[in-house]
Amino acid sequence: MKQKYKFFLKRLLYYFYGEKFYKRLNYDWSKSPSRIEILQNIINTRNYKTYLEIGCDRNENFSKIVIDHKVGVDPERGGTLRMTSDQFFQKNKESFDLIFLDGLHTYEQTIKDIDNSLRIIKEHGAIFVHDCLPKKIWNQVVPRIYGHWNGDVWKAIVRARTYDYADTYTCIADHGIGIIFKRKNSNILKLEENNFKSLKFSDYFNHHKKFMNLINHNDINKIFRL
Ligand SMILES: C[S@@+](CC[C@H](N)C(=O)[O-])C[C@H]1O[C@@H](n2cnc3c(N)ncnc32)[C@H](O)[C@@H]1O
Repeated sequence: MKQKYKFFLKRLLYYFYGEKFYKRLNYDWSKSPSRIEILQNIINTRNYKTYLEIGCDRNENFSKIVIDHKVGVDPERGGTLRMTSDQFFQKNKESFDLIFLDGLHTYEQTIKDIDNSLRIIKEHGAIFVHDCLPKKIWNQVVPRIYGHWNGDVWKAIVRARTYDYADTYTCIADHGIGIIFKRKNSNILKLEENNFKSLKFSDYFNHHKKFMNLINHNDINKIFRL
């Protein structure tokens, strides 16, 4: 209740001082599979053995993932290691088949987590990133002022889309799931703006298909290479 009141006050402040753009995208997440189903399906079809999750919270996803070896990192609760993602990547020596990034939902932290993951992902592995498709501006505002918080993770996906050494997609499911492969970019995004943090929700609303390289959940297997 106290948190709801704080969120309301912060929303009021943002309403006056923040970006004024209130159109919303019409995604219905109940019509597509959950992150848990998508991740497990990839693990099974690719015969993956090792899994890393950054940001585990109540283990809603982490506890359901079935795989030979799993590591979960969270400074607060859940997973197997009590530390931040930066602390983990600094000392980690393992590589992984599948990495699920769902930690601090800011642009700065997410792009750091993506860059660090690209260093340790196995050759035929994949990096999945949660919460890439905010439906409305309130889901995106940093710091959090609304129930479901996507943060500005989407800006990190836009940046990864400009890398020539990473191939990045966004699956339309479960609040948007970024999928990144360490290989030549097959559809590089050319942008005049290179200050990704300064992108606006209106930019995302107007260009999100091009920015995010959207795919349907039925097409996930097609973007994996043999
Ligand atoms: C959205 S929740 C994760 C949900 C979980 N992955 C799931 O699918 O149910 C985000 C979590 O990220 C954690 N977190 C926040 N900052 C972090 C950081 N710097 N490194 C790793 N995890 C972080 C929070 O403690 C929180 O538990």
